[in-house]
Amino acid sequence: MKTLNVGMLGCGFMGRTHSNAYNQVSHFFPDLPFKPVLKCCYGRPEDIETLKKFQKAWGYEEIETDWRKLITRPDIDIVDVVAPNFLHKDMVIEAAGAGKMIICEKPFAMSVAEAEEMVDAVEKAGVANMVSFCYRRNPAVSLFKQIVDEGRIGQPFHYRALYLQDYTISQKVPAGGASLWRLDAKVAGSGVTGDLLAHSIDAAEWINGPIKRVCAKTEIFIKERKNAETGEMVPITIDDACMFLAVFENGSIGTFESSRYARGRKNFQTMELNGEKGAVYFNLEEPEYIQFFRYADPSGQKIEDHLTGWQKILVTNSEHPYMSHYWVPGTMIGYEHYFINQLADFLAGISGGPECHPDVHDALRVQKVCDAVIRSAKEEKWIEIL
Ligand SMILES: NC(=O)c1ccc[n+]([C@@H]2O[C@H](COP(=O)([O-])OP(=O)(O)OC[C@H]3O[C@@H](n4cnc5c(N)ncnc54)[C@H](O)[C@@H]3O)[C@@H](O)[C@H]2O)c1
Repeated sequence: MKTLNVGMLGCGFMGRTHSNAYNQVSHFFPDLPFKPVLKCCYGRPEDIETLKKFQKAWGYEEIETDWRKLITRPDIDIVDVVAPNFLHKDMVIEAAGAGKMIICEKPFAMSVAEAEEMVDAVEKAGVANMVSFCYRRNPAVSLFKQIVDEGRIGQPFHYRALYLQDYTISQKVPAGGASLWRLDAKVAGSGVTGDLLAHSIDAAEWINGPIKRVCAKTEIFIKERKNAETGEMVPITIDDACMFLAVFENGSIGTFESSRYARGRKNFQTMELNGEKGAVYFNLEEPEYIQFFRYADPSGQKIEDHLTGWQKILVTNSEHPYMSHYWVPGTMIGYEHYFINQLADFLAGISGGPECHPDVHDALRVQKVCDAVIRSAKEEKWIEIL
């Protein structure tokens, strides 16, 4: 097994999920020819205590408070970008310039213009890359895609996605600062569109093909908040909620809805596709299940009868995506395994296996849809995705 030295740019929530994946991947995917080594992790000088705890918890050999220094170290093979969104562009471009492999969190960029620059840099450098739309790697979501690809849905009519949370309802929730950078437009780019709907858009395009046009409505419910660092009241400009209609290139139509004001919803994510021969439904609160309705078989022969109904399939058999790498049928895996699975796919890709997606090109597509959604809401009209 060859070692691959990892430089982790960030030590928060995603820093933890990615570090765990590097530590676990060779246990569950022992045939991969690479063994990741947690070489060095970055955190801001003001986050030094958090960084040291993070180093200890995950077993990094070293720490660094200057991310540029970490990227240019000759002993780093993979640069993993898990910092707030406004840093993704510079980090990815510098990592590409230094010839490093790149794993980057979503949203890939703050705008299409940024994403295009990043794609150019990665293309020029010719480095392996992956963008972390991790929900694709939930075995049930992968099975959703497999069912569609097997022709079991037939002509698609409706795609429906929800991504709902409720943690910003109180006016007392501040904007900015280390953990609430998501409410600061300069750091996050957009609100729920880039943060949450980017996942739904990635899954939708992966499963149902490209989105052609969108028409959106966004809302900012609390217009001013206290800045966590300065204590001053600041205007809020990111979208707290977003709903949009979509037309897919395959002729189907979609609805997408996201909010951080959906009281009771914590990380509620669903997707449904209704077609001529069948339908599929996934709900992240029952992450190991997929629901499937069969009206006809792939040849079009009607099979619906008095016993037909929605099947609730427990996606834990070894025949199901990724599951042969884990426990015995009927036992569960969790959120952290999506990150192990995506890393395994990335490592398989660089070992001559199937090309790993989503890559920077797929992420640019998602960015184009996100930007069109924001523009559509602003201009109150349909926007074509070019
Ligand atoms: N794939 C997913 O499902 C998923 C889930 C959550 C977050 N994300 C993405 O991962 C990235 C990181 O999010 P997170 O939840 O880990 O954030 P986080 O706030 O938990 O951690 C961010 C890290 O960056 C540091 N940081 C904060 N502000 C900074 C600044 N101005 N300059 C430098 N460092 C700064 C923090 O100290 C921390 O180490 C974001 O791009 C986010 O959109 C993806």
